[in-house]
Amino acid sequence: MNILILGRGKTGSLVAEVARQRGHHVNALGAKDNPKASALTAARLAAVDMIIDFTTPAAVLDDIEACLRAGKSIVVGTTGWYGELPRIRQILEKSGCGSGFLYGANFSVGVNLFFEVARSAAAALQHQYFGQIFERHHAQKKDAPSGTAAALQRIVQDASGTELEITSFREGDVVGLHELVLDSPNDRIYVCHDAKSRRGFAEGAVRAAEWLSGKKGCFDFKDVWREL
Ligand SMILES: NC(=O)c1ccc[n+]([C@@H]2O[C@H](COP(=O)([O-])OP(=O)(O)OC[C@H]3O[C@@H](n4cnc5c(N)ncnc54)[C@H](OP(=O)(O)O)[C@@H]3O)[C@@H](O)[C@H]2O)c1
Repeated sequence: MNILILGRGKTGSLVAEVARQRGHHVNALGAKDNPKASALTAARLAAVDMIIDFTTPAAVLDDIEACLRAGKSIVVGTTGWYGELPRIRQILEKSGCGSGFLYGANFSVGVNLFFEVARSAAAALQHQYFGQIFERHHAQKKDAPSGTAAALQRIVQDASGTELEITSFREGDVVGLHELVLDSPNDRIYVCHDAKSRRGFAEGAVRAAEWLSGKKGCFDFKDVWREL
């Protein structure tokens, strides 16, 4: 495919690398090339098959709207805008659903598998286990708890009715480690995901773009990753 990547930061640049390795033709734009989505006109997107966005919450909505208005399909990895999802769905419907739109809070297949294991393990909370969530990230990470830890907490709560406490650590250069620990007087269960790099996100995003090609409508990565 002819892929346009929005965002040349930590994740966007890896997405570009993975997409090229998978045989796609790639162009990438950073903040200066695309203020207020000004580079995303129908004319400039004419030869583009797919857009992948790893920018910022401030930029992503303009990007999405411009791509959908131009009838182009877009994969959105950027987080922090989901309150606007109903409005984006409306734009997609009004545009006659000519485009495919796929978003996801976590494009790592490994993390999605981890969530599935955690959902099963949450049954322990109905058998007198005490649960806790721990997450570790590099010292530069600003937000806590991580979005992945918050998602894990929601998954366990939906499965068991129990809201677990999250403890966050910021240290060294840890890429991202998440643990669900279930403790009973007799034993302890550890469910753990330890990311080695950001590459899992990048591979998931490119494979999601390949999956989305030729499809129309709105999709959440957590519902489709099994099909990639
Ligand atoms: N869903 C997932 O699996 C997943 C995984 C990792 C990250 N993320 C999310 O992806 C986003 C990016 O993360 P990151 O770690 O890569 O951040 P980052 O390193 O700060 O990169 C963000 C990039 O966006 C660029 N940008 C800002 N406005 C733009 C615009 N209008 N057009 C094009 N590019 C623009 C910036 O360009 P300049 O450098 O030129 O200013 C910057 O390079 C965040 O929302 C993060 O939470 C999601």
